[in-house]
Amino acid sequence: MAKKFYATTAIDYVNGHPHLGHAYEKVMTDVLVRSRRAEGKDTYYLTGLDEHGQKVQQAARDAGMDPQAYCDDLATAWTDFTRRLQLSNDDFIRTSEKRHKEVVQAILDKLNREGHFYTAEYKGYYSARQETFLTDRDRNESGEFDEIYGDVVELSETNYYFRLGCHQQWLIDYIEANPDFIYPDYRRNEVLGFLRNNELEDLCITRPASRLNWGIPLPFDPDYVTYVWFDALTNYISAPASHGDPLICDTLGLSREGLPGLELWPADHHVIGKDIIKFHSVYWPIMLKAMGLPLPKQIIAHGWWQKEGRKISKTTGNIVDPVAVIEEWGLDAFRFYCIRELDLGPDGNWTDSGFESRYSGELANGLGNLVNRSLSMLKRYRQSVVPPVQGDLEEEATAVIDQTRAHYENLKFQSAVQSIWSLVTRVNQYIDQTAPFKLAKDPEQSGRLGEILYNTVESVRIIAVLLQPLLPDTAGKIADQLAIGGKLPILGELRWGQLPEGHVTGSPSPLFPRRDLMN
Ligand code: MSP
Repeated sequence: MAKKFYATTAIDYVNGHPHLGHAYEKVMTDVLVRSRRAEGKDTYYLTGLDEHGQKVQQAARDAGMDPQAYCDDLATAWTDFTRRLQLSNDDFIRTSEKRHKEVVQAILDKLNREGHFYTAEYKGYYSARQETFLTDRDRNESGEFDEIYGDVVELSETNYYFRLGCHQQWLIDYIEANPDFIYPDYRRNEVLGFLRNNELEDLCITRPASRLNWGIPLPFDPDYVTYVWFDALTNYISAPASHGDPLICDTLGLSREGLPGLELWPADHHVIGKDIIKFHSVYWPIMLKAMGLPLPKQIIAHGWWQKEGRKISKTTGNIVDPVAVIEEWGLDAFRFYCIRELDLGPDGNWTDSGFESRYSGELANGLGNLVNRSLSMLKRYRQSVVPPVQGDLEEEATAVIDQTRAHYENLKFQSAVQSIWSLVTRVNQYIDQTAPFKLAKDPEQSGRLGEILYNTVESVRIIAVLLQPLLPDTAGKIADQLAIGGKLPILGELRWGQLPEGHVTGSPSPLFPRRDLMN
């Protein structure tokens, strides 16, 4: 079996409702995976939930529920959400699943045996909300701990620590030697700056079970559970291990008997938000190195969204509810805005007016109008029968195919959208300039009319194929209206002129209803 292209997202904290930030990351990764699949690659997409830790334990207690039952309840909403977004994920991992816990415990056992851990007493500050230890260095200018830490308590306890310091130089060398390891480059420079200027402290990888028992028990010391980040990061290999990934199973000494043996590791991309880059590009590589596994090929850190120029926050009510947007405007309008508005890397700003103007400008009047009038004209003037191949727009469409593929390949999804829309705009102009509705009145112009109709409808087909990774639903609807559903070529085989003369298309129906007609 050949190795699959394997991409992952961060796993979301189960206690909370899916918001724009979660949706963006999952849609972005979906576009990435679908773009690789559109090139004919065999892909695997993993997403899931991070379920352990103090916050969940506390929330379950407040709800008077057992933590597992509490997580099971919430997990339904999250898995529904993946369907609402039409994610093409192949697996959905939950860290409270047996398959995950077994792998975490196998890793802990191996690393413990090989001397990577030691115990030590810690005296200091602890933030239960962030499940992290703090020092005086974490205080702000007024001497307080930031409000993101919630109530900070002083405590003294013994825990297990993972030796990191001995790997610091190796990691610096690795990141320097592999410039693509962290994307975009300004995030890579941040990580390198941090590693060069700070001495890495060892990582506390346990919490006493007396204080926190909703976690994975340490296999060699029942008084402790595993620190939630050590547990969560492992999802990227526990899911492949559960499918019998040979590299992972053999390295960790896990049985592959009866499992399909999917070859996934190393991951091609871990897609995450900029806030959790240290966990992914410092702790995770060191964990993998200690285990004897190769590193993922690339960590992609996306930016954060604001709404109307202000921080997204439930407390102030400044939120974007993706489900409400999808219900009102349709899924592809949501996917389109996410990718069109924000390049992969910088921070973005959601504005309702921007959303509405992209909807009516680029989707309804741009793409929707083009598809509708191309198919309507073909129906009216040629009874939906495709005329002979003609190439007025061949050169431009071919250039757009090449550019769009390159943008997908280089993670420039916003540019891919722009490139596809340059063709949408061009074909709309072509229709305005050639005025087929006028030519149709003159029987002597019938040949020229056929040429124009071919160019518009063939461009629409090319647009549909290029759109598949971004707007799978819309691409499917266009393919159905063209009556070529199920017959879309992979991107590498997409050429002008593949829509054959004599093919009979279906009937047009609006893709993006105009807002004034929707209510
Ligand atoms: N559970 C951890 C991740 C563990 S991965 C091994 C976590 N969960 S989270 O629910 O807080 O965040 C999940 C993802 O959503 C993160 O990548 C985070 O950056 C992203 N976002 C959360 N809010 C966001 C925005 N406002 N904008 C964009 N993405 C944001 O962290």
